[in-house]
Amino acid sequence: MAISLIMAMSSCSGDDLPLYKDAGAPVEKRVEDLLSRMTLEEKVGQMNQFVGVEHIRKNEASLSEEDLHNNTAQAFYPGFNADSVETWTRQGLVGSFLHVITAEEADYLQSLAMKSRLQIPLIFGIDAIHGNANAPDNTVYPTNIGLASTFDTDLAYRIARQTAKEMRAMNMHWTFNPNVEVARDPRWGRCGETYGEDPYLVSRMGYSTVKGYQADFGHDGVLACIKHFVGGGQSENGTNGAPAEISERTLREVFFPPFKEGTEAGAMSVMMAHNELNGIPCHSNEWLMEDVLRGEWGFKGFVVSDWMDIEHLHDLHATAENIKEAFYQSIMAGMDMHMHGVYWNEYVCELVREGRIPESRIDRSVRKILEMKFRLGLFEQPYSDSEEGMKTRLCPEHRNTALEAARKSIVLLKNDGLLPLDPKKYRKVLVTGINADDHNILGDWSAEQKPENVITVLEGLRAVSPETEFVFVDQSWDPRNMSPAKVDEAARKAVDCDLCIVVAGEYMFRGRWTERTSGEDTDRSDIELVGLQNDLIRKVAASGKPTVLILVSGRPLGTEWAAEHLPALINAWEPGMYGGQAITEILYGKVNPSAKLPISIPRSAGQIRMIYNHKPSQYFHPYVLGESTPLYPFGYGLSYTSYDYSDLTLDKDETTSDGVVKVSVTITNSGHMAGDEIVQLYIRDRFSRITRPVKELKDFVRIHLEPGESKVAVFEITPDKLAFLNRNFNPVVEPGEFIVMVGPSSSDKDLLKKSFTVK
Ligand code: BGC
Repeated sequence: MAISLIMAMSSCSGDDLPLYKDAGAPVEKRVEDLLSRMTLEEKVGQMNQFVGVEHIRKNEASLSEEDLHNNTAQAFYPGFNADSVETWTRQGLVGSFLHVITAEEADYLQSLAMKSRLQIPLIFGIDAIHGNANAPDNTVYPTNIGLASTFDTDLAYRIARQTAKEMRAMNMHWTFNPNVEVARDPRWGRCGETYGEDPYLVSRMGYSTVKGYQADFGHDGVLACIKHFVGGGQSENGTNGAPAEISERTLREVFFPPFKEGTEAGAMSVMMAHNELNGIPCHSNEWLMEDVLRGEWGFKGFVVSDWMDIEHLHDLHATAENIKEAFYQSIMAGMDMHMHGVYWNEYVCELVREGRIPESRIDRSVRKILEMKFRLGLFEQPYSDSEEGMKTRLCPEHRNTALEAARKSIVLLKNDGLLPLDPKKYRKVLVTGINADDHNILGDWSAEQKPENVITVLEGLRAVSPETEFVFVDQSWDPRNMSPAKVDEAARKAVDCDLCIVVAGEYMFRGRWTERTSGEDTDRSDIELVGLQNDLIRKVAASGKPTVLILVSGRPLGTEWAAEHLPALINAWEPGMYGGQAITEILYGKVNPSAKLPISIPRSAGQIRMIYNHKPSQYFHPYVLGESTPLYPFGYGLSYTSYDYSDLTLDKDETTSDGVVKVSVTITNSGHMAGDEIVQLYIRDRFSRITRPVKELKDFVRIHLEPGESKVAVFEITPDKLAFLNRNFNPVVEPGEFIVMVGPSSSDKDLLKKSFTVK
């Protein structure tokens, strides 16, 4: 250690600027120059993350060791303290931080890194899942499930671009998003941070998001991280991090494509999944990291572990006898960076000195991490420009986009003609429910935001319909501890009102980690409304007054009773800072709803896994009691106008396995309100050697139509949309019949159909 340090320092002597500090030199040369000056300890340090010191200090005072083990939102390091982490940073032994939520702290930690021998800047990572919402005073967009409901990839791109700018304004460079897991189990609390159940839609949203974040790493680009690789969206029993038993076919057909697309979009980091996959933890899974990700897809970035998951090879999965062995297994399987904590530097250096891990293997990881730091311009600009930053964060353009996204993300599930509401008819309106006047509409992965930056539903109602008298009965935020007296009060007051609005759902706020009912690590054994919420809905509706139910939730909820008995039902997901405004604008018809479900809504947990793209034999024997169809299918969502689909035309009835078929369809707005329609194209391979789903989404387009207006949507069916993986997992297009289905949802009754043949 002493010798390598002296040698490294001597090569840095003299007045000459070392090559790696020369902004004009090519990145590869800078990387090699810097690497050649680094000690083993400095290299291994680059591969390590810590949580921010403010975060550590807060938790040192309040958390137990048990919390540390169980709570993935909090951390500290028993036996060490925040000062130790500062010292290591000053010594150049830390590569990255996460959970730093102010520009001041980021700049402070960076200033420590700038005191280290080689002045290698830190890279700050943050879960900027829907805007940089985990830090205060940033624009909070709808969460990913809402964004997916817009089917608007351009919007996804713009939100990612704006988020990157707000992040850079705070000296944050790396977002742990997009989450491109395919969510196939609504019991899983993380559905809300995904783009839903369909591999194609998830891929398209993920692709645009990666492009928007990175933007070729100009001064306002950030590093994207596609996560979690892989299978967490279909874990055993729907609990986060539970084992995933998924066949290689299903992995390749359903769970891999969004990651492959993300790699093609240029994502330069990937996070591994908590879970074991078919018996091998993802964090020590060489097949995933080396063979598939790097080998098959040519991934050029670095792989980061998820929260303490390398340690979990020892203390949870028990594939490693001790932590040092766990580090060994993970690195040798392809891991590059450790999230997060102590012992990494000591044990990994030992493993290299013992000859178990070649130093060249360490160099490979460090090269990638340094390359990103150079490409992000961190050597030239290690600090934030706070004045500039405040101009960017929450700027009017970003706020408008948050509002636009909320408006486009809210799904109208049922409307018996009650909506849009007529304020002249409904003068006195009861408003109640846990989400009626709560910042919970911000969704999971949001810090507390200032009240002036959030519009709750009640605030939205009062602003959008000032002539209406709103009678508010507060049910407080906590669904688990609702007051029966308050429920009865709402029922009583409903009788005197003309209409009732119940804003129910889940509670996701991270600040109340153990009390919430949905979100990360918050899985459920059913998908019913929690607590007295069903009582509230039924008792209010028993008043005989028309009752609208609005659901705020990241996961689909089985509200079968409400769907049957209430005249109107809205699924608002987690709509973000302007959720209350957008919901109200839809209620009052200022905005025409256009969103479509990116995930099927089952009637109950017993129906799980309820997916639209199931195999033909799935319901050969339907359930003997209860339905075999979902409450609402994938792709479904109503509007205040009506759209007629006609003239589905294929430009040929026969093609070859490398041919292209053009599909066109006319959509007419036959109602009285302008609106956006999301036109969906599904394909079924009629006969094939390997069983194929009953339908698969292969394209979509959002079109705007004025009343009476018609437009022709045109799609191209290229060979990749017809191909499936043969027995050896090679893509093939088999000759035979293909059915093309176009319409407003995945439901058979909504789709126009035509066939063509591949010769
Ligand atoms: C989550 C990741 C997240 C990380 C850092 C983990 O618990 O699974 O998605 O990026 O924490 O906050």
